[in-house]
Amino acid sequence: MGVIKDILRTMDYGPSPESSEHVGVWLEEHKAGFGHFINGVFTKPGDLFEVFNPATGERIARATQGSPADIDAAVAAARKAQAKWAALSGFERSKHLYALARHVQKRERFLSVLETIDNGKPIRESRDIDIPLVARHFYHHAGWASLIDSEFPGTKPVGVCGQIIPWNFPLLMLAWKIAPALAAGNTLVLKPAEFTPLTALAFAAICAETGLPAGVVNIVTGDGATGAALVAHPGVDKIAFTGSTEVGRAIRKATAGTGKKLSLELGGKSPFVVFEDADLDSAVEGLVDAIWLNQGQVCCAGSRLLVAESAAEPLYAKLRARMANLRIGDPLDKSTDVGAIVAPVQLERIRRLMREGEGEGLEFFRANDSLPDRGCFYPPTLVTGVEPASVLAREEIFGPVLVATTFRTPHEAVALANNTRYGLAASVWTENVNRAFEVAARIKAGVVWINSTNMFDAASGFGGYRESGFGREGGREGLSEYRIADEPRPKPNSTRPARLAASPGFAPTRKAADADIDRTAKLHIGGKQARPDSGHSYAVLDAAGREVGLAGLGNRKDIRNAVEAAAKASSWGAATAHNRGQVLYYVAENLAAREDEFARRLSAVTGASARAAKAEVEASIRRAFVYAGYADKFDGAVHATRSRFVTIAMNEPWGVMGIVCPNEAPLLAFVSLVMPAITMGNCIVIAPSANHPLSATDFYSVLDTSDVPAGVVNIVTGEANVLAKTLAEHDGVDALWYVGDTDGAAEVEALSAGNLKATWTCGAAIDWAKAEGREFLRRATQVKNIWTPYGE
Ligand code: NAI
Repeated sequence: MGVIKDILRTMDYGPSPESSEHVGVWLEEHKAGFGHFINGVFTKPGDLFEVFNPATGERIARATQGSPADIDAAVAAARKAQAKWAALSGFERSKHLYALARHVQKRERFLSVLETIDNGKPIRESRDIDIPLVARHFYHHAGWASLIDSEFPGTKPVGVCGQIIPWNFPLLMLAWKIAPALAAGNTLVLKPAEFTPLTALAFAAICAETGLPAGVVNIVTGDGATGAALVAHPGVDKIAFTGSTEVGRAIRKATAGTGKKLSLELGGKSPFVVFEDADLDSAVEGLVDAIWLNQGQVCCAGSRLLVAESAAEPLYAKLRARMANLRIGDPLDKSTDVGAIVAPVQLERIRRLMREGEGEGLEFFRANDSLPDRGCFYPPTLVTGVEPASVLAREEIFGPVLVATTFRTPHEAVALANNTRYGLAASVWTENVNRAFEVAARIKAGVVWINSTNMFDAASGFGGYRESGFGREGGREGLSEYRIADEPRPKPNSTRPARLAASPGFAPTRKAADADIDRTAKLHIGGKQARPDSGHSYAVLDAAGREVGLAGLGNRKDIRNAVEAAAKASSWGAATAHNRGQVLYYVAENLAAREDEFARRLSAVTGASARAAKAEVEASIRRAFVYAGYADKFDGAVHATRSRFVTIAMNEPWGVMGIVCPNEAPLLAFVSLVMPAITMGNCIVIAPSANHPLSATDFYSVLDTSDVPAGVVNIVTGEANVLAKTLAEHDGVDALWYVGDTDGAAEVEALSAGNLKATWTCGAAIDWAKAEGREFLRRATQVKNIWTPYGE
């Protein structure tokens, strides 16, 4: 450091390191290695792995590689503690969460320094962003703990949760997982990332210190193998995961058919859209935050800059000037802007992707090449002229690299923004409020920040669309992930329904005497009746085994056509809720007008008594009315987050939904599944009851006469599990509901891993008389949170 007069001349920052003395003492105390935290105590260190400070490359600790036996012990402890924890009054649980918040707050400095040493992020961020948000999360959920029973009636805790977190926000991700789980009455086993286990272990000590009952929180350290053992453990009721899309996909497959609840918060390639009327200076500061916070190792990093052509050069010039002022170096220095990359392997991943990009002949600007001579550092980088097909525009780099592309029209901006398999976040910069909301509504992402970026708060949900995962963390939205319906578990339907009777010509069937119901039903695709691609039909039998008609044997091609038709009808989602409600009322009215006819046919095909058939039709009419009424009432919220921000939570339709119906209650189940899906604005492809498809095919004419636009409801008959498989595999299907048998449910969940579509499966009998309400609407929507600042 120069003498003061030199500093005054150059106006350079002098070094201003935060003291790490306390953390050093703590690490020294544990130099023999950390054990796990199981059942309220730390275990003896076992097989140890090393933990490094990425800024120096020095080893700072050793932690235990969790074995399957460790996971067993932790899950057993969580199971033992769960009933008692759930039975505590909300007030008592609330006090525990409050104590955790207070103790985190008391140790803010220690935890910030530890986080920075372990992860490499600048102390300014761990001190001013990460740790305060951790405390905020526990405070917020302390409130939920005491409100959970009144605010979530008819639900109970899921049970034991397995939680796996990444290394980019180690303690913050822990808080996002642990606080809602505890508030909702669950116990848990959490596995921190192998690069950054230390703040989780410090948190474990806080749990012991605050007197949290033993077994409620268990922390097992280790790598992906430990995580996989936790995912596979039969004693776990829910998995909550944050990390890479690749591992998320593996977890989706591993949990398929196990009945474990699942929420995934995965990768992103989030657009940062700057229009020509944006305040460019603010946008530049936004970009610094969007892509250089935590060295760009942020799942929702604004890593794709999309800028209006006319604003591009001025913006790039301002950005380059700003980049030259970013201070890169010792993360413990209070004036450092950009710290270290978490580990050599991540640094190498960034370099590899950049080499690939360099091969494409793009233009690179690097802020500051004078990097520290040790540790994992990568300079802030701007890449311009990037084509959408470039590897740098498609892959999550997870480093301090911003890639820029220009656009000419708002329409093109939205198309580019959505040109990704991800959908975690987006940032929109314009002074035109109409345009801001128009674009925010059209971008497919779970969070949209208008004239701002990387805003988080415990009261707002956070989570992705598409391959960025499903489920939300934060606020009311996040809590529902940790509750389930409070009803006895139904007995699973483990037997596959009998194969459909072969087409006539292959096996003779006896015809029913009632000629009125002897008919051949076609598929219903894009508002038209369609012959099945296979050219085959199958015999529909009544309860006595007599043929009462024929139904089309739908196949992969029919599903493809139906998905295409559904995608084309997407303007249904943009219709007003009032209009959709009116259409549903009309459906109900037209069904009511044909009540007797539907009841007679239902009775003939299912063998139900005339009374039971009439009751099923009446219940179906009532259900259609209920959802017509809901159309404009299942609305969103304005979350109480940061001052001078409006945070709007909007319930948006998934887009194209697949629905597979069970054999039972062929009309009522069909109506109970179709109505909530379409009232929320989805377009659907539905496979009706395989054994009794005729009530659904009769429904065509009700749809046609009720102004349901073509393509909103597409009906493909055939073997349920065959159609379910095709729907699960189809990347054009955004969400899939399946009611059938346990094998089918497992297959649907496993195959859905392809595009990580959200699934809602049931392999058990459902009481269709009760299958109605907000949970169906919640499952028919995904929440988008839009943050808008106000004030000059
Ligand atoms: P990762 O997804 O492998 O690790 C995240 C967590 O999952 C860690 O705790 C890890 O031990 C655990 N894990 C790994 N394999 C597992 C398995 N088979 N079953 C259960 N748990 C498992 O992420 P990684 O390898 O650390 O980073 C690779 C890339 O992933 C990054 O470059 C980035 O692109 C992305 N990533 C995204 C994150 C996000 O927040 N969206 C966070 C971390 C990484």
